[in-house]
Amino acid sequence: MQQFRIAPSILSADFARLGEEVTNVIQAGADLIHFDVMDNHYVPNLTFGPMICAALKPYATVPMDVHLMVEPVDDLIVSFAKAGADIITFHPEATRHVDRSLSLVRDSGCKAGLVLNPATPVYLLEHVLDKLDTILLMTVNPGFGGQSFIPQSLVKIRQVRDLLDMYAAESGRRISLKVDGGIKVDNIAEVARAGADTFVAGSAIFGKPDYRAVIDAMRQELAASSKE
Ligand code: DX5
Ligand code: ZN
Repeated sequence: MQQFRIAPSILSADFARLGEEVTNVIQAGADLIHFDVMDNHYVPNLTFGPMICAALKPYATVPMDVHLMVEPVDDLIVSFAKAGADIITFHPEATRHVDRSLSLVRDSGCKAGLVLNPATPVYLLEHVLDKLDTILLMTVNPGFGGQSFIPQSLVKIRQVRDLLDMYAAESGRRISLKVDGGIKVDNIAEVARAGADTFVAGSAIFGKPDYRAVIDAMRQELAASSKE
């Protein structure tokens, strides 16, 4: 049976009550806490750094999934690992040496992943699969919450799913396939059928008063999708 995971993005949480928001969304069923780091350089927005990550760590009883939208990445990889990140993903365009930065994530004790923007080609993954624990496919352009899912992403999700299934058959190792941007109750099943196993959702969850109701509705959609 396929195991699906839901990763609420605290980008859409109430920033004045972040610790409480993390606690509440974990009680509502979050499997990971997705932490969007933006530097106003790689993306045109500015969020939070390692100090906020460290402050939230005691509230995060599930893995802290750090999505770096920063350039360059290496110094911040080390800082976020020290701040309590469990998973660190970054964009290949944001570092000169992708293979070296991936090694740095693992050497710092975290799971490593690459993030592909909507226009970034899948072949960038091919020579570093052994160094990846997760792949994050952006289903919007990075930088802001609350954007609409780009429908063309479904083709790319299927393409990466095929690549990962082939890799798992050869290596016996499974790499998780996560999607990020515009994921809602009404499209999560279609995205799961295309091959994603982990779903980042910000505004869909934090935009509603009852986080559990949204996460439960997402899980129902996912359960129905895997029976089809
Ligand atoms: C966008 C971020 C996303 C964002 C998703 O750059 O990487 O994680 O929070 O937000 P929604 O779910 O609202 O599209
Ligand atoms: Zn993200």
